[in-house]
This record gives sequence, structure tokens and C-alpha cells, in this order.
Amino acid sequence: MKKKRKTILLGIPVLLALIQFVPVQRDNPPVISDLTAPKAVKSILVASCYDCHSHLTRWPAYSYVAPVSWLVAYDVREGRAHMNFSRWGEYSDGAKEFRREQIFKKVSAGEMPLATYLLLHPAARVTPSSLAVLKEWASPTLDTDTDREQPPAPVPDP
Ligand code: HEC
Repeated sequence: MKKKRKTILLGIPVLLALIQFVPVQRDNPPVISDLTAPKAVKSILVASCYDCHSHLTRWPAYSYVAPVSWLVAYDVREGRAHMNFSRWGEYSDGAKEFRREQIFKKVSAGEMPLATYLLLHPAARVTPSSLAVLKEWASPTLDTDTDREQPPAPVPDP
């Protein structure tokens, strides 16, 4: 019994050593068409979102150690696949509009940045004042949408 436990305990470091050889994709491909947005908006998104939603990921030291590296690489791969600020220019105007709204909604709902990410990057949490900036960036599209359904305002008589 005692011997068995010892074997298991010895097995853990061996296993940890072995899994380091599993290849992990940790690349930063070239930026194709980076997000264009007002400076205030962009700095928020760069600070809080670019690690997963762009080709400018800052890969932390722990992202080189399995099995954590697998989780980090997975989030980056999924994040880029869902929305990529480094390919922003490729989105149609309608898609950009949709994204701006979605960004505000996900952040205001507390769904983004991911909670696991915030544990290790507390400074990436979007503050209420930053959220207001994102809202203003997103809301012109909301206004345009409602305007579209309404007839133009009558010009008042002089
Ligand atoms: C730790 C990585 C990570 C960070 C940081 C992060 N995201 Fe995400 N994001 C993801 C992943 C993974 C998904 C896809 C799965 C999901 O929706 O949960 C996603 C999905 C999204 C989506 C939905 C896109 C779609 O088409 O479904 C939006 C919008 C989004 N993120 C916005 C943001 C914004 C805005 C920030 C910064 C304030 C941010 N994310 C920060 C990983 C991240």
C-alpha cells in the first residue's frame, strides 16, 4: 500500500515533465487590419481584450507551462475565432456595428473579460467610467437603428 502511493507520487512529476512536450500553438500572426476606434476606446480594448481577441497577445510565463498553457492557448484560439481586432477591417460595416454593441453588452453583463483571466489580470477589469466610454462608442449605432425606422424630423417653420 505504502509503496503504491510512493509510486503514484513519483509519477506526478514525471507526468508533468512529459506533458511539457505536447506542442502548444502560441503564435502572434501578423496584424492584418487593426481596429480603428477613438483613442480612449482603443486603449480600453487593448488593455482588457487584446490578449485573447487580437494577434498581439502578451503570452505570460505561465502560458509556457502545461497544463496551464493548454487553457491559455485554448482561450486565445477561441477568442480570436469569435472576434479578432487584428482583422477588424475585414468585417463589413454591419458586422462592425453588431460587434460594437456586442462588446458593450458582454462587458456590461460582466461576461468579458473572462473571469479566469481577471483573476490573474485584475487591472484588466473594465471600470464603470471605461464602460461608459464603450457605451458611447456602441450607442451611435443603436441610435442609427432607431432613426432608420422613424420618418425624418419635420423642419420647424421659422
Ligand atoms: C482570456 C481571454 C479573453 C479575454 C481577455 C477577453 N475575451 Fe472575449 N471571448 C473569449 C472567448 C474564449 C470567447 C468565445 C467564447 C465565449 O463567448 O465565451 C469570447 C467571446 C467574446 C465575444 C462574443 C463574440 C462572438 O461572436 O460570439 C465578445 C463580444 C467578446 N468576447 C468581447 C470581449 C471584450 C470586449 C473583451 C475585453 C473587455 C474580451 N472579450 C476579453 C476570450 C476572452
